[in-house]
Amino acid sequence: MRILLTGASGFIGRNLRAALLAAGHEVVAASRSSGIDFRQMLTADDWLPHLVGTDAVINSVGIIGECGSQRFDVLHTHAPAALFRACEHAGVRRVLQISALGADDTAFSPYHLSKKAADDCLRSLDLDWFVLRPSLIYGHGGKSAELFMRLAALPMIPVVGDGQQMLQPVHISDVVATTMQALVTPESGQTLDIVGTEIISFADWLQRMREVQGLRPAQFLQVPFGLCMASARVGRYLNPILQPDNLRMLKVGYRADPKPVERFLGRALLRSTPPLFFTDATPFGSTS
Ligand SMILES: NC(=O)c1ccc[n+]([C@@H]2O[C@H](COP(=O)([O-])OP(=O)(O)OC[C@H]3O[C@@H](n4cnc5c(N)ncnc54)[C@H](OP(=O)(O)O)[C@@H]3O)[C@@H](O)[C@H]2O)c1
Repeated sequence: MRILLTGASGFIGRNLRAALLAAGHEVVAASRSSGIDFRQMLTADDWLPHLVGTDAVINSVGIIGECGSQRFDVLHTHAPAALFRACEHAGVRRVLQISALGADDTAFSPYHLSKKAADDCLRSLDLDWFVLRPSLIYGHGGKSAELFMRLAALPMIPVVGDGQQMLQPVHISDVVATTMQALVTPESGQTLDIVGTEIISFADWLQRMREVQGLRPAQFLQVPFGLCMASARVGRYLNPILQPDNLRMLKVGYRADPKPVERFLGRALLRSTPPLFFTDATPFGSTS
């Protein structure tokens, strides 16, 4: 198949691109570096020339925090919605949207709400669609995974409040495998949460990230939630992940049942063994 892959230069995108090429697909990579800027792709007409000869589209563009003209409504909602409508117009039936766990009726943050708006648009169209909602993804090269690795290596591990916010991390291999399956399965029209099988606290997850770096366990530095929020208001100028809304979302601790995605894949999800923290997506997370 010839596949238009947006966000191809990102963490998820570059892993998807490698898997698609390995499976013999032709990949048309779209990101700012390849000349497609979502801020200028706001109508179906903008997208139509890029869909000629295309069999499927995967959208994995996203930002974790707004910065300058990189806005949630433009990147997460308006440009993807224009792309999805162009797909319907051009007869590109298979469209996969990488959304995020929590982009549902409980959403309150602009991040989730803007994702959900695009997901709703896709679900309303006459297409063979999938909305894939991963939880926190770990593996080599993820921006949040790398930030957490750095925090975990500090002499004392800083955690938000008591550090008991719950996570359900999933390896990049499982995200890629689910997307690859969604590309070919006849049972389209599904919204799938891609979550790991283990529910773990933020503090324990950072301690594990420390262990896998070969470091001895460290004490936690419990930073009160209010102080974290105040720091995030300044920190977001240094790293877009450090947004007050991201702390609010961490506090909620999104979870989902992993069984539907295991059924979809026809196998168990990967358990977080140490080598997986440093690997790209490989079939079944193999590190050889
Ligand atoms: N990583 C996670 O743990 C995780 C978990 C759940 C959901 N997600 C969602 O999955 C999606 C991808 O995440 P990721 O971790 O792969 O993010 P990433 O590494 O930051 O990649 C983001 C991609 O978006 C592209 N992009 C940003 N601004 C753009 C613009 N104006 N026009 C065109 N492309 C633009 C970037 O390409 P250029 O900068 O080259 O343009 C890059 O390819 C996001 O929507 C994210 O919310 C991620």
